[in-house]
Amino acid sequence: MPQRVFFVTSEVYPFSKSGGLGDVMGALPEAMQKTGLPSAVVSPFYGRISTGNFRVRLAVSGLPVGYPWAPITADVYEAEYHGVPLYFIDRGEYFDRRYYYNNPVKGDYFDNAERFIFFCRAAVALMEHLGTPPSIVHAHDWQAALLPAYIHFLRPENPFWTNTGTVFTIHNVAFQGRFSSRLFTSCGLPPEAWNVDGVEFYGDFNLLKGGIVYADAVTTVSPSYAREILTERYGCGLDGTLRQRELHLYGILNGADYSVWNPEDDPYLPCRYSVKDLSGKQKCKEHLISELGLDPALKDRPLLGFIGRMRGQKGIDLVNAVIPDLMRMDVGVVALGEGKPEYEAEISELMEQYRGRVAAVIGYTEDLAHRMQAASDIFLMPSRYEPCGLTQMYALRYGTLPVATAAGGLRDTINPWPGEDATGFIFTKSETRELLETIRQAVAFWTDNPAGRQKMVRRGMRREFTWDRACREYMDIYRTIRLRL
Ligand code: ADP
Ligand code: GLC
Repeated sequence: MPQRVFFVTSEVYPFSKSGGLGDVMGALPEAMQKTGLPSAVVSPFYGRISTGNFRVRLAVSGLPVGYPWAPITADVYEAEYHGVPLYFIDRGEYFDRRYYYNNPVKGDYFDNAERFIFFCRAAVALMEHLGTPPSIVHAHDWQAALLPAYIHFLRPENPFWTNTGTVFTIHNVAFQGRFSSRLFTSCGLPPEAWNVDGVEFYGDFNLLKGGIVYADAVTTVSPSYAREILTERYGCGLDGTLRQRELHLYGILNGADYSVWNPEDDPYLPCRYSVKDLSGKQKCKEHLISELGLDPALKDRPLLGFIGRMRGQKGIDLVNAVIPDLMRMDVGVVALGEGKPEYEAEISELMEQYRGRVAAVIGYTEDLAHRMQAASDIFLMPSRYEPCGLTQMYALRYGTLPVATAAGGLRDTINPWPGEDATGFIFTKSETRELLETIRQAVAFWTDNPAGRQKMVRRGMRREFTWDRACREYMDIYRTIRLRL
């Protein structure tokens, strides 16, 4: 049995979160620890980190990191969340910024490579400083992808790392951390890592590729996505590299954290409800209708919700495109998200045009996301691809019927109507015609078949996507890796 796992991640709920990665890292380490495997998390100390009710103390002052030049150091803060120790790497010039990765208007921060190379090197320095070699380092996404590479090259020469296994989880292969080759020279990897079987990618330095190539095992967040990324269509140029690692690639479905996402005790809702008594859901709907200034008559019509990054991946452009047709079906639409200015502008204009029937909130608001899940009847998720997707799992738990594409984790979590065990509505091609047709079916089902609707809602609410199951699958991988070391 491995001794201790270090999760290395650029986001961890409730301290930092821009999407599902934050949610996963807020839940998986705790679940792992409950399964009997001591865990810790290493993450950046962002300026906008919410330390709210948590006691955060300085754990290490002036930790030598040696990147990008010799005397540079990091301070490390420590906190605890649900019994799991968290270490926050602090260096103001890199992390004390309003956003995590990019300024919404100006784009990606120019020094992202430097910031996250620094973060990975600081994580290595911190683990060495803490003195007990981790049995597993489990790194997530491109921001932490150099960890497996560093450890791969440290293992033969530094006894501290000899028995440490590495797992690398891809949450989205489209985000690769691809930078100019000149950043490689100072990153601390040996020259032999610079080739097509290493971190070089068409002449560039590709951090995600480093994780894929050098980790002892590579995982992604659903079985379907694990198959999809082996294909040219979904592999974003890394399908060849992934195929080379196919024997060590696993798809492990994320869980949902029901201590945060549960309508029975959600503190953000105006009233609670459960699978036994759904009356509170209607009250949540009426509350949101009034909160967002929508037409009160909508209380008896289906309310369609969208929550997510307003980017091509999530198909918000498809939602925008079908809204005029949806208005003829006499439904309401509520959307929460931020992303591409063009999509934000489109939905804001639609809100103007269909005042009282369409409400769009551009921004990032955790509590509103909870209220929207509870208030909506139908949840729209027409993703072009979806590694796992957590919002559809939350929708199911909140009694909100998902309408989603048959992509990645959506396929793995929603049973399609009209099957006997249906929990939602699935369509195959992410295009407006199919989306509209599927919404039409969902709306007809909702309005014409109240008994069937109740059954489907309850079936969805009873679905459990537990972290326990995922933990057991990760543990099997940890064990296999350690046997091979
Ligand atoms: P992804 O990680 O691809 O964005 P997921 O479905 O895995 O998609 O996770 C998204 C998470 O981010 C969910 O917790 C969702 O509620 C949250 N979220 C997305 N957009 C917003 C927003 N604008 N405001 C609040 N929460 C949001
Ligand atoms: C990524 C994916 C999303 C997944 C999340 C957590 O952001 O886009 O599908 O649920 O990571 O793994």
